[in-house]
Amino acid sequence: MFEKQKKFIRGIALTLTGRLGIVFTTSAFICFFLFELLRVFGILTNAYIGLITYLLFPILFIFGLILIPIGWYLYKKKMKMSTSELLKSSFGEETLQGSVSGSLIFRTVLILTLINVLFIMLAGVSTMKFMDQPNFCGTACHQVMGPEWATYQASPHARVKCVECHVGEGVQALIDSKLSGLRQMWKSVLDTYERPVPTPVHNLRPSRETCEKCHWPEKFYGHKLKVIRRYGQDKDSTPRYITLDMKIDTGKKANKAGIHWHIAMENQVRYASLNDERLEMLWAEVKQKDGTFRRFTNSSLDENVENANEEEISIRTMDCVDCHNRATHIYEDPGNAVDERISKGQLDRSLPFTKRVIQAAITANYPDKKSGIVGIANYMSGYYRRKYPNLAVQKMGIISEMIETAQGIYSRNVHPGMNIEWGTYPSFAGHKRDTGCFRCHNEKLKDEEGNMISFDCTLCHSILSYEEDKAFKYMELPDKNSPNYKMHKMLREEFLNRTD
Ligand code: HEC
Ligand code: HEC
Ligand code: HEC
Ligand code: HEC
Ligand code: HEC
Repeated sequence: MFEKQKKFIRGIALTLTGRLGIVFTTSAFICFFLFELLRVFGILTNAYIGLITYLLFPILFIFGLILIPIGWYLYKKKMKMSTSELLKSSFGEETLQGSVSGSLIFRTVLILTLINVLFIMLAGVSTMKFMDQPNFCGTACHQVMGPEWATYQASPHARVKCVECHVGEGVQALIDSKLSGLRQMWKSVLDTYERPVPTPVHNLRPSRETCEKCHWPEKFYGHKLKVIRRYGQDKDSTPRYITLDMKIDTGKKANKAGIHWHIAMENQVRYASLNDERLEMLWAEVKQKDGTFRRFTNSSLDENVENANEEEISIRTMDCVDCHNRATHIYEDPGNAVDERISKGQLDRSLPFTKRVIQAAITANYPDKKSGIVGIANYMSGYYRRKYPNLAVQKMGIISEMIETAQGIYSRNVHPGMNIEWGTYPSFAGHKRDTGCFRCHNEKLKDEEGNMISFDCTLCHSILSYEEDKAFKYMELPDKNSPNYKMHKMLREEFLNRTD
């Protein structure tokens, strides 16, 4: 039984190289299916196991396949044989008799080749699919992607695959991304990657192919109410309210422009910045479908901007990520992070100086993540033991919950291994420290007639409360004789007394 097959295997196992080839292909083939089975049944789920299954085994398989003919070649050279002598001696006289297509070698090689091609295709497709999983992107190069993975999981896009924003659609995009992935893998093997990963990301696909698959400009209309609570540094961590009525319209339907005006179909906003850092603007311009054109030029550039040569200046059409650069990898501001946890009820502010103590603990300087985690616990428990020894005993439970939450905030936002501190990646969807919107909306950018891009406090939002004790402090009443006066008064009172 199987005499011919045995003979064939013996024939290709003439040298050590050939034998290694057989061992590699066969074991990679079997292991691939074994691991795949274990993954399907959810026994192995780790990204590293996926890396082995979908990258290592197929590579090993192909490597083995290459070794086999090399083995033959080496044997042929050593024995000083011609090809037909070699075939005869390894597979027997009868294999070469009769027609070529009827010969054993031909058939065996044909069948094996078919199996190989099918297997490589299957492995290729599985590998591609696997590499599209956020789990792979986020954890395979643990140290490098750790921060992006942590922020991604806490974001509104935690169920959107990394590739939906980073790769986009089309064959070209796929090839580009795989090539750049290989480069990055190489860098992480050699440990030469940049820490932190530099931004802006220059090769991100245009938003039209990514973001706009799910959010399209016509969808933005009306207003979005934001009630922000800020807790004080005082003993009670007293809440103060900032209420913003964000004008998020694109302006087409309501005929009243708002924040998404920049990306409305009929408007095109372009800008030039130095080294594509997108921070200091040289000019910004608007082109509209009806032919309107306006350019606002920076009237007070500093010297190195003025002397910049052509290559250093990059021009870009504004899209989603010019404001939503932190759409997914959202790094918090330490104070705001604590405020948000208190607001959501994840932190209890019944202890004295809750806000102040946590904020101090998470912003202290720690050399690495481990010492950060330990340091936060020591700082907070130490503080209450020293200042409020009785409370520290009575409220031990609350304090340890507080510590855990504080450590969570720290772990998400600070990554010393990647040189990511508080504020390393600022968001442009606001105007903290005069970046974001105020990169263009400021008094420096002017058109030929000297008009500025407006920065009125009510251009982008109505302010309904500004660090007040109520959420809707500034709601105004209409004229006393107005027919709606009574209703307004009632609604206003309800609003003014709201605290949530
Ligand atoms: C909803 C879209 C979206 C998803 C999903 C997404 N990203 Fe991003 N990512 C972005 C945008 C936008 C930037 C660009 C930031 C910039 O240019 O300033 C970015 C930037 C990055 C950067 C550069 C560093 C940084 O924080 O700016 C890395 C690395 C990264 N993403 C990795 C990932 C990984 C890994 C995943 C999946 C676990 C992922 N991204 C999922 C939109 C996304
Ligand atoms: C695969 C679909 C998908 C893609 C692609 C996508 N998003 Fe989203 N986005 C969502 C979903 C779902 C939500 C959550 C909506 C919710 O929570 O109500 C969301 C929420 C948001 C929010 C609102 C968050 C908030 O606080 O309310 C912003 C801003 C946003 N996305 C911007 C972007 C940007 C910018 C991109 C491209 C870089 C993008 N999205 C790509 C599906 C997507
Ligand atoms: C000029 C800056 C800017 C641009 C460009 C921009 N956005 Fe926004 N977007 C904002 C601001 C500001 C908000 C409101 C802020 C908030 O919710 O905190 C917002 C809100 C949103 C929301 C939440 C809306 C809601 O109803 O809750 C989504 C989703 C969103 N943007 C997606 C996008 C997408 C997709 C694009 C590109 C097609 C885009 N944005 C372009 C600034 C911008
Ligand atoms: C790259 C430059 C640039 C950035 C960054 C930018 N804008 Fe604008 N914005 C403009 C220009 C240019 C105009 C048009 C000014 C004009 O025509 O008078 C404009 C107009 C507006 C308008 C008024 C639209 C109208 O016609 O009524 C709003 C609202 C607005 N921007 C909000 C924002 C917000 C919010 C941000 C930040 C999240 C922001 N912008 C960031 C360039 C920018
Ligand atoms: C070009 C548009 C624009 C202009 C002009 C503007 N803002 Fe804002 N403002 C924003 C956006 C966008 C945010 C971010 C909202 C969010 O938190 O998502 C914001 C946030 C704020 C916040 C909340 C900050 C926080 O603590 O989170 C305050 C307060 C504020 N603005 C006050 C002002 C005042 C005062 C002015 C006038 C000097 C002004 N804004 C002008 C767009 C604008």
